[in-house]
Amino acid sequence: MADIILGIESSCDDTSAAVIKDGWLLSNVIASQQVHKDYGGVVPELASRAHEQNIVPVVSQALEKAGIQASDLTAIAFTRGPGLLGSLLVGTSFAKALSLSLDIPMVMVNHLQGHILANFIRQPDKPVREPSFPYLCLLVSGGNSQIVKVSGPLDYDILGQTIDDAVGEAFDKCSKMMGLGYPGGPVIDRLAKSGDPDRFHFAKPHIPRLDYSFSGIKTSLLYFVRDQLKEDPDFMEKNKEDICASFQKTLIDILMDKLIKASKQTGIREITIGGGVSANSGLRNRIEAEGKKRGWNTYLPEFKFTTDNAAMIAIAGWFHYLAGERTPLDIAPVSRMADF
Ligand code: KG4
Repeated sequence: MADIILGIESSCDDTSAAVIKDGWLLSNVIASQQVHKDYGGVVPELASRAHEQNIVPVVSQALEKAGIQASDLTAIAFTRGPGLLGSLLVGTSFAKALSLSLDIPMVMVNHLQGHILANFIRQPDKPVREPSFPYLCLLVSGGNSQIVKVSGPLDYDILGQTIDDAVGEAFDKCSKMMGLGYPGGPVIDRLAKSGDPDRFHFAKPHIPRLDYSFSGIKTSLLYFVRDQLKEDPDFMEKNKEDICASFQKTLIDILMDKLIKASKQTGIREITIGGGVSANSGLRNRIEAEGKKRGWNTYLPEFKFTTDNAAMIAIAGWFHYLAGERTPLDIAPVSRMADF
Protein backbone atom coordinates (compact mmCIF):
# COMPACT_ATOMS: atom_id res chain seq x y z
CA MET A 1 0.00 0.00 0.00
CA ALA A 2 1.24 3.49 -0.82
CA ASP A 3 2.49 5.83 1.91
CA ILE A 4 0.60 9.13 1.78
CA ILE A 5 2.30 11.77 3.94
CA LEU A 6 0.92 15.17 4.89
CA GLY A 7 3.71 17.69 5.53
CA ILE A 8 3.17 20.74 7.73
CA GLU A 9 5.60 23.66 7.86
CA SER A 10 5.18 26.68 10.14
CA SER A 11 8.69 27.55 11.35
CA CYS A 12 8.76 31.21 10.31
CA ASP A 13 6.41 33.32 8.19
CA ASP A 14 5.08 30.79 5.67
CA THR A 15 2.20 28.47 6.52
CA SER A 16 2.47 25.47 4.25
CA ALA A 17 0.95 22.01 3.80
CA ALA A 18 1.83 19.40 1.19
CA VAL A 19 0.90 15.84 0.31
CA ILE A 20 3.29 13.26 -1.10
CA LYS A 21 2.54 9.71 -2.15
CA ASP A 22 5.55 7.35 -2.09
CA GLY A 23 7.81 10.37 -2.70
CA TRP A 24 5.67 11.89 -5.48
CA LEU A 25 4.30 15.36 -4.86
CA LEU A 26 0.51 15.62 -5.08
CA SER A 27 0.12 19.14 -3.68
CA ASN A 28 2.10 21.94 -2.03
CA VAL A 29 0.17 24.94 -0.70
CA ILE A 30 1.98 27.95 0.76
CA ALA A 31 0.40 30.99 2.42
CA SER A 32 3.11 33.64 2.69
CA GLN A 33 2.41 36.21 5.37
CA GLN A 34 2.40 39.78 4.07
CA VAL A 35 1.80 41.33 7.49
CA HIS A 36 5.56 41.71 8.21
CA LYS A 37 6.46 43.86 5.19
CA ASP A 38 5.97 47.19 7.00
CA TYR A 39 8.21 46.15 9.90
CA GLY A 40 11.40 45.32 7.97
CA GLY A 41 11.49 41.78 9.39
CA VAL A 42 9.33 38.99 10.76
CA VAL A 43 7.36 39.94 13.90
CA PRO A 44 7.04 36.66 15.88
CA GLU A 45 3.71 37.47 17.55
CA LEU A 46 2.10 38.43 14.24
CA ALA A 47 3.54 35.33 12.58
CA SER A 48 1.93 33.01 15.17
CA ARG A 49 -1.45 34.68 14.77
CA ALA A 50 -1.29 34.44 10.99
CA HIS A 51 -0.34 30.72 11.19
CA GLU A 52 -3.34 30.16 13.44
CA GLN A 53 -5.62 31.74 10.83
CA ASN A 54 -3.98 30.01 7.86
CA ILE A 55 -3.37 26.47 9.04
CA VAL A 56 -6.89 25.00 8.61
CA PRO A 57 -7.55 26.43 5.11
CA VAL A 58 -4.01 25.61 3.95
CA VAL A 59 -4.25 21.96 5.03
CA SER A 60 -7.76 21.65 3.54
CA GLN A 61 -6.50 23.03 0.23
CA ALA A 62 -3.52 20.68 0.21
CA LEU A 63 -5.80 17.66 0.68
CA GLU A 64 -8.26 18.91 -1.92
CA LYS A 65 -5.55 19.61 -4.52
CA ALA A 66 -4.07 16.17 -3.88
CA GLY A 67 -7.51 14.68 -4.50
CA ILE A 68 -7.55 12.78 -1.22
CA GLN A 69 -9.49 12.67 2.06
CA ALA A 70 -7.83 13.09 5.45
CA SER A 71 -8.72 9.44 6.11
CA ASP A 72 -6.38 8.40 3.22
CA LEU A 73 -3.30 9.72 5.06
CA THR A 74 -0.65 7.32 6.34
CA ALA A 75 1.27 9.77 8.57
CA ILE A 76 1.79 13.45 9.34
CA ALA A 77 5.23 15.04 9.09
CA PHE A 78 5.73 18.38 10.83
CA THR A 79 8.56 20.83 11.47
CA ARG A 80 9.68 20.58 15.08
CA GLY A 81 12.37 23.26 14.75
CA PRO A 82 14.48 25.29 14.40
CA GLY A 83 12.37 28.43 14.05
CA LEU A 84 10.13 30.81 15.96
CA LEU A 85 8.63 28.98 18.90
CA GLY A 86 5.17 30.53 18.65
CA SER A 87 5.02 29.69 14.94
CA LEU A 88 6.26 26.13 15.46
CA LEU A 89 3.66 25.60 18.18
CA VAL A 90 0.83 26.15 15.69
CA GLY A 91 2.07 23.49 13.24
CA THR A 92 3.06 21.06 15.99
CA SER A 93 -0.26 21.36 17.83
CA PHE A 94 -2.17 20.96 14.59
CA ALA A 95 -0.17 17.83 13.71
CA LYS A 96 -0.89 16.35 17.15
CA ALA A 97 -4.62 17.03 16.93
CA LEU A 98 -4.87 15.54 13.45
CA SER A 99 -2.76 12.54 14.40
CA LEU A 100 -5.03 11.85 17.37
CA SER A 101 -8.26 12.33 15.47
CA LEU A 102 -7.19 10.14 12.52
CA ASP A 103 -5.30 7.66 14.71
CA ILE A 104 -2.21 7.80 12.48
CA PRO A 105 1.43 8.40 13.48
CA MET A 106 3.28 11.67 13.26
CA VAL A 107 6.96 12.17 12.49
CA MET A 108 8.97 15.22 13.46
CA VAL A 109 11.34 16.81 10.98
CA ASN A 110 14.26 19.20 11.44
CA HIS A 111 13.50 22.08 9.08
CA LEU A 112 17.10 22.07 7.79
CA GLN A 113 16.77 18.43 6.76
CA GLY A 114 13.91 19.50 4.54
CA HIS A 115 16.21 21.91 2.69
CA ILE A 116 18.92 19.24 2.44
CA LEU A 117 16.52 16.66 0.95
CA ALA A 118 14.54 19.04 -1.29
CA ASN A 119 16.06 17.49 -4.43
CA PHE A 120 14.25 14.22 -3.66
CA ILE A 121 10.78 15.69 -4.16
CA ARG A 122 9.44 13.91 -7.24
CA GLN A 123 6.94 15.71 -9.44
CA PRO A 124 4.64 13.80 -11.79
CA ASP A 125 5.27 16.12 -14.76
CA LYS A 126 9.07 16.51 -14.34
CA PRO A 127 12.03 14.21 -15.00
CA VAL A 128 13.52 12.60 -11.87
CA ARG A 129 17.09 13.72 -11.16
CA GLU A 130 18.41 13.03 -7.67
CA PRO A 131 21.90 13.22 -6.17
CA SER A 132 23.55 9.97 -5.18
CA PHE A 133 25.08 9.47 -1.75
CA PRO A 134 27.38 10.78 -0.45
CA TYR A 135 26.79 14.34 -1.62
CA LEU A 136 27.66 17.78 -0.32
CA CYS A 137 24.92 20.28 0.42
CA LEU A 138 25.66 23.98 0.69
CA LEU A 139 22.93 24.95 3.13
CA VAL A 140 22.39 28.69 3.00
CA SER A 141 19.49 30.52 4.60
CA GLY A 142 18.62 33.38 6.93
CA GLY A 143 19.78 31.37 9.93
CA ASN A 144 22.41 28.99 8.52
CA SER A 145 25.49 28.71 6.36
CA GLN A 146 26.82 25.18 6.40
CA ILE A 147 28.50 22.60 4.26
CA VAL A 148 26.90 19.26 5.06
CA LYS A 149 28.10 15.85 3.92
CA VAL A 150 25.02 13.73 3.31
CA SER A 151 25.83 10.00 3.37
CA GLY A 152 22.23 8.81 3.43
CA PRO A 153 18.74 10.33 3.77
CA LEU A 154 19.19 10.53 7.55
CA ASP A 155 23.00 10.51 7.84
CA TYR A 156 24.68 13.92 8.01
CA ASP A 157 28.04 15.40 8.99
CA ILE A 158 28.49 19.15 9.23
CA LEU A 159 31.88 19.81 7.62
CA GLY A 160 31.83 23.56 8.11
CA GLN A 161 29.54 26.32 9.34
CA THR A 162 29.40 30.00 10.07
CA ILE A 163 31.04 31.20 13.26
CA ASP A 164 28.87 34.34 13.37
CA ASP A 165 26.19 35.61 10.94
CA ALA A 166 24.49 33.48 8.31
CA VAL A 167 24.85 34.54 4.68
CA GLY A 168 21.12 35.35 4.43
CA GLU A 169 21.54 37.64 7.43
CA ALA A 170 24.36 39.42 5.60
CA PHE A 171 22.05 39.95 2.61
CA ASP A 172 19.20 41.16 4.84
CA LYS A 173 21.21 43.40 7.17
CA CYS A 174 23.20 45.02 4.37
CA SER A 175 20.06 45.62 2.33
CA LYS A 176 18.50 47.36 5.32
CA MET A 177 21.69 49.40 5.82
CA MET A 178 21.55 50.53 2.19
CA GLY A 179 17.84 51.37 2.52
CA LEU A 180 16.85 48.72 -0.03
CA GLY A 181 14.20 46.92 2.03
CA TYR A 182 13.42 43.46 3.41
CA PRO A 183 14.03 40.64 2.69
CA GLY A 184 17.35 41.78 1.31
CA GLY A 185 18.37 38.73 -0.71
CA PRO A 186 15.81 39.04 -3.52
CA VAL A 187 16.30 42.84 -3.79
CA ILE A 188 20.10 42.62 -3.96
CA ASP A 189 19.84 39.70 -6.40
CA ARG A 190 17.60 41.77 -8.71
CA LEU A 191 19.74 44.93 -8.60
CA ALA A 192 22.97 42.92 -8.98
CA LYS A 193 21.78 41.65 -12.38
CA SER A 194 22.37 45.07 -13.96
CA GLY A 195 25.52 45.96 -12.01
CA ASP A 196 29.28 45.49 -12.42
CA PRO A 197 30.46 42.81 -9.96
CA ASP A 198 34.11 43.87 -10.28
CA ARG A 199 33.68 47.58 -9.62
CA PHE A 200 34.04 47.57 -5.81
CA HIS A 201 36.00 45.30 -3.52
CA PHE A 202 35.02 44.17 -0.03
CA ALA A 203 37.25 42.40 2.47
CA LYS A 204 36.98 38.61 2.58
CA PRO A 205 37.51 36.79 5.89
CA HIS A 206 40.33 34.32 6.51
CA ILE A 207 38.68 31.61 8.54
CA PRO A 208 40.37 28.25 9.07
CA ARG A 209 39.03 24.87 7.99
CA LEU A 210 35.67 24.83 6.20
CA ASP A 211 33.98 27.41 8.43
CA TYR A 212 32.48 30.70 7.35
CA SER A 213 32.20 34.22 8.72
CA PHE A 214 29.92 36.93 7.36
CA SER A 215 30.05 39.62 10.03
CA GLY A 216 33.21 41.31 8.65
CA ILE A 217 31.80 41.98 5.21
CA LYS A 218 28.85 43.75 6.81
CA THR A 219 31.21 46.17 8.55
CA SER A 220 33.28 46.54 5.40
CA LEU A 221 30.18 47.57 3.44
CA LEU A 222 28.99 49.89 6.23
CA TYR A 223 32.29 51.86 6.31
CA PHE A 224 32.50 51.91 2.52
CA VAL A 225 29.00 53.36 2.10
CA ARG A 226 29.50 55.83 4.96
CA ASP A 227 32.78 57.16 3.47
CA GLN A 228 31.36 57.43 -0.03
CA LEU A 229 28.25 59.26 1.17
CA LYS A 230 30.48 61.91 2.79
CA GLU A 231 31.91 62.67 -0.65
CA ASP A 232 28.65 62.38 -2.56
CA PRO A 233 25.24 62.23 -0.83
CA ASP A 234 23.76 60.62 -3.99
CA PHE A 235 26.42 57.90 -4.16
CA MET A 236 24.06 55.11 -3.11
CA GLU A 237 21.33 56.03 -5.55
CA LYS A 238 23.78 56.42 -8.45
CA ASN A 239 25.70 53.20 -7.78
CA LYS A 240 23.33 50.77 -6.10
CA GLU A 241 23.43 48.21 -8.93
CA ASP A 242 27.25 48.07 -8.90
CA ILE A 243 27.38 47.96 -5.09
CA CYS A 244 24.88 45.09 -5.01
CA ALA A 245 26.67 43.18 -7.79
CA SER A 246 30.08 43.60 -6.11
CA PHE A 247 28.73 42.75 -2.65
CA GLN A 248 26.88 39.68 -3.93
CA LYS A 249 29.95 38.50 -5.83
CA THR A 250 32.03 38.72 -2.64
CA LEU A 251 29.48 36.64 -0.72
CA ILE A 252 29.37 34.04 -3.50
CA ASP A 253 33.19 33.91 -3.64
CA ILE A 254 33.31 33.26 0.10
CA LEU A 255 30.71 30.48 -0.18
CA MET A 256 32.31 28.87 -3.21
CA ASP A 257 35.91 28.92 -1.91
CA LYS A 258 34.96 26.63 0.98
CA LEU A 259 32.63 24.45 -1.09
CA ILE A 260 35.44 23.82 -3.61
CA LYS A 261 37.81 23.05 -0.72
CA ALA A 262 35.25 20.64 0.79
CA SER A 263 34.85 18.84 -2.54
CA LYS A 264 38.62 18.52 -2.91
CA GLN A 265 39.07 17.28 0.67
CA THR A 266 36.30 14.67 0.50
CA GLY A 267 36.58 13.77 -3.19
CA ILE A 268 32.79 14.22 -3.43
CA ARG A 269 31.51 15.69 -6.69
CA GLU A 270 27.79 15.37 -6.13
CA ILE A 271 26.87 18.92 -5.14
CA THR A 272 23.53 20.36 -4.04
CA ILE A 273 22.37 23.61 -2.49
CA GLY A 274 19.41 24.37 -0.25
CA GLY A 275 17.80 27.09 1.86
CA GLY A 276 16.44 30.54 1.01
CA VAL A 277 19.73 31.89 -0.37
CA SER A 278 19.87 29.00 -2.86
CA ALA A 279 17.30 31.05 -4.82
CA ASN A 280 20.07 33.55 -5.59
CA SER A 281 20.62 33.66 -9.35
CA GLY A 282 24.30 34.59 -9.04
CA LEU A 283 24.99 31.65 -6.73
CA ARG A 284 23.06 29.24 -8.94
CA ASN A 285 24.96 30.35 -12.07
CA ARG A 286 28.26 30.10 -10.26
CA ILE A 287 27.59 26.58 -8.96
CA GLU A 288 26.68 25.46 -12.48
CA ALA A 289 29.80 27.10 -13.91
CA GLU A 290 32.13 25.61 -11.27
CA GLY A 291 30.38 22.27 -11.75
CA LYS A 292 31.17 22.25 -15.47
CA LYS A 293 34.77 23.24 -14.81
CA ARG A 294 35.36 20.72 -12.03
CA GLY A 295 33.33 17.74 -13.26
CA TRP A 296 30.71 18.05 -10.53
CA ASN A 297 27.15 16.80 -10.86
CA THR A 298 25.14 19.75 -9.58
CA TYR A 299 21.55 19.65 -8.36
CA LEU A 300 19.69 22.91 -7.79
CA PRO A 301 16.25 22.77 -6.19
CA GLU A 302 13.44 24.45 -8.09
CA PHE A 303 12.78 28.03 -6.88
CA LYS A 304 9.53 27.02 -5.19
CA PHE A 305 11.47 24.53 -3.03
CA THR A 306 14.23 26.97 -2.01
CA THR A 307 12.09 28.98 0.40
CA ASP A 308 10.07 27.45 3.19
CA ASN A 309 7.59 24.85 1.97
CA ALA A 310 5.90 21.75 3.32
CA ALA A 311 6.84 19.53 0.34
CA MET A 312 10.39 19.28 1.68
CA ILE A 313 9.05 18.51 5.18
CA ALA A 314 6.82 15.78 3.75
CA ILE A 315 9.70 14.15 1.84
CA ALA A 316 12.05 14.30 4.84
CA GLY A 317 9.22 12.97 7.03
CA TRP A 318 8.71 10.09 4.64
CA PHE A 319 12.36 9.05 5.00
CA HIS A 320 11.94 9.12 8.79
CA TYR A 321 8.71 7.16 8.50
CA LEU A 322 10.41 4.52 6.32
CA ALA A 323 13.17 4.25 8.95
CA GLY A 324 10.47 3.32 11.47
CA GLU A 325 10.55 6.57 13.43
CA ARG A 326 7.39 7.70 15.19
CA THR A 327 7.05 10.84 17.31
CA PRO A 328 5.17 10.69 20.63
CA LEU A 329 2.32 13.10 21.33
CA ASP A 330 4.12 14.77 24.23
CA ILE A 331 6.79 16.23 21.92
CA ALA A 332 7.40 19.99 22.17
CA PRO A 333 8.71 22.25 19.39
CA VAL A 334 12.17 23.77 19.84
CA SER A 335 13.51 27.05 18.50
CA ARG A 336 17.03 25.62 18.18
CA MET A 337 18.04 22.13 17.13
CA ALA A 338 21.66 21.26 17.64
CA ASP A 339 21.75 18.12 15.52
CA PHE A 340 19.92 16.78 12.55
O1 KG4 B 1 15.37 29.44 4.19
P1 KG4 B 1 14.70 30.75 4.37
O2 KG4 B 1 13.43 31.01 3.61
O3 KG4 B 1 14.38 31.04 5.87
C1 KG4 B 1 15.21 30.69 6.90
O4 KG4 B 1 16.14 31.43 7.18
O5 KG4 B 1 14.91 29.60 7.43
O6 KG4 B 1 15.77 31.86 4.00
C2 KG4 B 1 15.49 33.23 4.07
C3 KG4 B 1 16.70 33.96 3.58
C4 KG4 B 1 16.61 35.46 3.77
O7 KG4 B 1 17.80 35.88 4.38
C5 KG4 B 1 16.49 35.99 2.35
O8 KG4 B 1 17.07 37.28 2.17
C6 KG4 B 1 17.27 34.95 1.58
O9 KG4 B 1 16.89 33.73 2.18
N1 KG4 B 1 16.94 34.95 0.15
C7 KG4 B 1 17.84 35.26 -0.81
C8 KG4 B 1 17.16 35.22 -2.04
N2 KG4 B 1 15.86 34.86 -1.79
C9 KG4 B 1 15.75 34.70 -0.44
N3 KG4 B 1 19.13 35.58 -0.70
C10 KG4 B 1 19.79 35.87 -1.84
N4 KG4 B 1 19.20 35.87 -3.07
C11 KG4 B 1 17.90 35.54 -3.21
N5 KG4 B 1 17.33 35.54 -4.42
